[in-house]
Amino acid sequence: MTEPRNRVVQVARFGGPDELEVVDAPMPTAGPGEVRVRVLASSVVYTDVTIRRHLYPQTMHLRPPFVLGYDVVGEIDQLGDGVRGFQIGDRVADMTVVGSNAAYRTLRADDLTRVPASVDAAEAATLILSWTTAYQLLHRAARVQRGQRVLVQGAAGAVGQALLTLGRMAGLELWGTARSEHTGLVRELGATPIDYQSEDFTRVLPGGFDVIYDGVGEDGYRRSFAALAHGGLLCAYGYSASVEAQRRIFTILMWIARLYLWRWLPGGRRARFYSINAMRARHPAWFREDLEHLFELLATGAIRPRIAKRISFEEVAEAHRRLEAGSLEGKIVLCPDLGSRLDQTPPERRPDTSVHSSSAAALGAPTPISRAP
Ligand SMILES: NC(=O)c1ccc[n+]([C@@H]2O[C@H](COP(=O)([O-])OP(=O)(O)OC[C@H]3O[C@@H](n4cnc5c(N)ncnc54)[C@H](OP(=O)(O)O)[C@@H]3O)[C@@H](O)[C@H]2O)c1
Repeated sequence: MTEPRNRVVQVARFGGPDELEVVDAPMPTAGPGEVRVRVLASSVVYTDVTIRRHLYPQTMHLRPPFVLGYDVVGEIDQLGDGVRGFQIGDRVADMTVVGSNAAYRTLRADDLTRVPASVDAAEAATLILSWTTAYQLLHRAARVQRGQRVLVQGAAGAVGQALLTLGRMAGLELWGTARSEHTGLVRELGATPIDYQSEDFTRVLPGGFDVIYDGVGEDGYRRSFAALAHGGLLCAYGYSASVEAQRRIFTILMWIARLYLWRWLPGGRRARFYSINAMRARHPAWFREDLEHLFELLATGAIRPRIAKRISFEEVAEAHRRLEAGSLEGKIVLCPDLGSRLDQTPPERRPDTSVHSSSAAALGAPTPISRAP
């Protein structure tokens, strides 16, 4: 009898999307205090690109091959010794940073958040990294107040869309930078769009913004800081412009460190860098509380995250290419059993795997990347 195997997406070497491969790995077993889940959904996000390019501080210690996958929604199929309060079949979520672009994985029971049975697994997965980041940026890092004037850089991105949606619910006055083709989306999410390719966001609001969220980090965050009002706060949380330009990690870390020196400049403005991992390490209860709150909002229909496409293992490398090319209008989610489920389901009853954004249509045909035998 052949041993059961686990399908995973791994980084074979640091570098471009061609360095990803789909392989069959040994099936993991739940150790003491752990559960094993059958993965229902795991996001494919820009942070995976940063990790794959070896520019992510929290994973600098990893050496290939290792499995990608920042978050997971799964169904428990094995309980390790000493696990209490969970049963086989329970749906749970965790933020794992790596390792969840897989068919099965093990998780520490203490880290799990329950996922309501009524919600879609892929939509739930989009909340774990991007929406929890947005929620904490608003309510933990900046503690925003109703009526504040807030600028969101990269407003059409995964975190950007969540910031606008949750910011609107918090009663903020919002502006969002995006390329011109996304101005409709930014307006729909309740913000005034600023076309970053033709407009200067530093001139839009003469008095400056109360809070600016910047996950792009063009010019080392200088212009975002310059666009703040007196006493305003810049919350930097990403540096995709530096990843794109393939800057060195040392330069990126210097820019982040410099944010903390700007508080000594005249004008009473402050800047800080938010990291979801640092905040989870300091306040693990906040992470679970905030994610549970977001699952509730999803279950009641108060929020509806956009999914650009649900993909199978074979489409992950192409998904990375699309993330790097930009212009997506929603998240890409790996649904491991998509292929097999589609094979078994009559066409008229197949789940919606359509591309909701025309710009994501290029994801269409799966690219054969598997180097597994
Ligand atoms: N610190 C944390 O805890 C944390 C948590 C989550 C994410 N992140 C990081 O935050 C960043 C954003 O994440 P994400 O998942 O939202 O990425 P994403 O979905 O790729 O979104 C990034 C957005 O930025 C836009 N953009 C690119 N250049 C821009 C510019 N010059 N001005 C304004 N917008 C621009 C892109 O638009 P186009 O379509 O025009 O390219 C895209 O819509 C990433 O670097 C990610 O690693 C950090």
